Amino acid sequence: MTATDGWPFANPVLTASGCGGTGRDLAAYGDLATLGGFVTRSVTLHPRPGGAVPRIVESPSGLVNAIGLQNPGVTGFLRDELPPLLDLGAIVVVSLAGRSLGEYAELSRTLGRTDGIVALEVNLSAPDPLGTSLFDAREPFQAGSVVGSCRRDLRAGVLLLVKLRSDVSRVVETARAAVDAGADAIVVGNALPAALPDGRPGGLSGPAIRPQALRCVAEVARALPATPMIGCGGIMDADDARAYLDAGARAVQIGTALFHDPTTAFRIAREIAYQPDGPAGEDDR
Ligand SMILES: Cc1cc2nc3c(=O)[nH]c(=O)nc-3n(C[C@H](O)[C@H](O)[C@H](O)COP(=O)(O)O)c2cc1C
Repeated sequence: MTATDGWPFANPVLTASGCGGTGRDLAAYGDLATLGGFVTRSVTLHPRPGGAVPRIVESPSGLVNAIGLQNPGVTGFLRDELPPLLDLGAIVVVSLAGRSLGEYAELSRTLGRTDGIVALEVNLSAPDPLGTSLFDAREPFQAGSVVGSCRRDLRAGVLLLVKLRSDVSRVVETARAAVDAGADAIVVGNALPAALPDGRPGGLSGPAIRPQALRCVAEVARALPATPMIGCGGIMDADDARAYLDAGARAVQIGTALFHDPTTAFRIAREIAYQPDGPAGEDDR
């Protein structure tokens, strides 16, 4: 895939799901249109109130969050959150999460036929899928089933990204299953399974997870050189982003850093020169 055959991100720096709010707050700190893309929080079929507070706690070199996929559901998202994002000129990627294959298929169908959405990001990487009642897609065959369900009725031209957890022991097999089932690109990874100080399950993100996510990105990029990859995990500055690009990622997502400094993604996007065919010498992605 090259810049001329469907890769919609004119800049390799995107926000990570759930970390840019609805986009309206982030827009106070920079022009969303200058980012490669804005990835929404994961949207589910029905509204979810989210978990008990506190939902975000600082830990050494990172955050532990237990947001519990709070979101207004797909109808509320399409009514209240998508239009302002499009008005702000964002390249919109909608993250989706489901409790069943049927829910994934319905979300994909509904979102895929909505004008203005350039890509869907299938969230198969929640740190606590069972606790948050999501379809358990930790095994490669399960991941393939979800991707197949999303792909089946997806309108042509809408890119299907699949976001995997940075599980060193399974990530290559899971990425392969996702690609075989129709994924256009792979995103690695999400927050890692962790606990809040009170013992509730959550996800650890930020610099603490960067070396681990980076290893997974490098392994998937080596194993699947023809599949575009997006790296995510602990990126705080342009050097971190370059490390992912050098490891074979075609783009990166910025998450936790936005909670420390909401200008981070805009700054990294400016600092990284856009190369239309990917990092030098790697134009087969
Ligand atoms: C507060 C918070 C909310 C998040 N919400 C989502 C979400 O809704 N869907 C998702 O796929 N990932 C979600 N993530 C994970 C991030 O998108 C990202 O994959 C992860 O935090 C690793 O990147 P980072 O270290 O740059 O934050 C969330 C992370 C945080 C910290």
